[in-house]
Amino acid sequence: MSAYGLLRPALFAIDPERAHRLTIRALTIAGGMGAVPRVRPVTIAGIEFPNPVGLAAGMDKDGEAIAGLFGLGFGAVEIGSLTPRPQSGNPKPRLFRLAEDRAVVNRMGFNNGGIDAALERVKKARRAGVLGINVGANKDSDDRVADYALGVGKAARVADYVTINVSSPNTPGLRDLQSRPALDELLAASNVARMVEGRRVPLFLKVAPDLDTQGFDDAVRAAIDNGIDALIVGNTTISRPATLRSAQATQTGGLSGAPLKALARTKLAEALASSGGQLPVIAVGGIDSPEEALARLEAGAALVQLYSALVYEGPGLVRRILKRL
Ligand code: FNR
Repeated sequence: MSAYGLLRPALFAIDPERAHRLTIRALTIAGGMGAVPRVRPVTIAGIEFPNPVGLAAGMDKDGEAIAGLFGLGFGAVEIGSLTPRPQSGNPKPRLFRLAEDRAVVNRMGFNNGGIDAALERVKKARRAGVLGINVGANKDSDDRVADYALGVGKAARVADYVTINVSSPNTPGLRDLQSRPALDELLAASNVARMVEGRRVPLFLKVAPDLDTQGFDDAVRAAIDNGIDALIVGNTTISRPATLRSAQATQTGGLSGAPLKALARTKLAEALASSGGQLPVIAVGGIDSPEEALARLEAGAALVQLYSALVYEGPGLVRRILKRL
């Protein structure tokens, strides 16, 4: 049994959010963990990724464990979502393990210490790969477009790429920004904000897997027309597959992990078809094995990202995937 196999029952015996805090703390201490299998680098949006496996946003929202996360082997680490002002997020409990389903439901609600504090950490962090910064809007903001523009502008000064996250289900109304006219306004403002000293910092857009085919196609078109550099497909789902067995499946929030796999595959195929090769697509959702990572890359994804599988498979998953690439 792996070291994580021995540790997992202890972590599963405590509240999920406390287990998560302990993990972040351990990663801030751990740093590297020995050799990472070498694979062929991938260049997208002019950025060279040392390998195509990235950490999805939400694990290290505040950028506290960047060096330790690169130490697991990730070619890219995406911190955030970060909002202009710090906010506490939704009341606890707000993070649920669906152990029988190898899944997670969360309604964290963009709890984070604010973008300024995180950027100070990023500036000091040892970066062994590509550092992405994911930005969102404050819950009580009366001008969400202005929040994104501010976040993009600040993040662009220190990040290798910036992700606009309009797909969290846990900030009421946020996903409305995925409609065509709203996206045009948001992306136009973000395109101004991403210019740093004449350099156009790569800008990615993260969308929800819950958009229907038409809505999804509109979002892809808006991304292309506004010069977005890559599409991240996608966030958690508010849907609940009929196969779920865990008692916590009815909790409100976004579902991630193994039961998201089928929907994420479908939406990856839709994104690739809609974009016709004009936009690199980053596949996320239910990637929990070397086979699944390979299948998404073979289907046409430029890169993959994962988060929930770290809970069930342990941090060694990243190296296991890299060995197979
Ligand atoms: C997330 N995710 C997420 N995404 C994002 O863009 N900003 C965020 O702040 C968060 N926060 C967050 C918290 C928690 C607890 C989870 C489980 C997830 C979504 C995440 O990046 C990813 O898109 C989904 O979790 C699907 O991938 P996995 O987890 O199935 O590999």
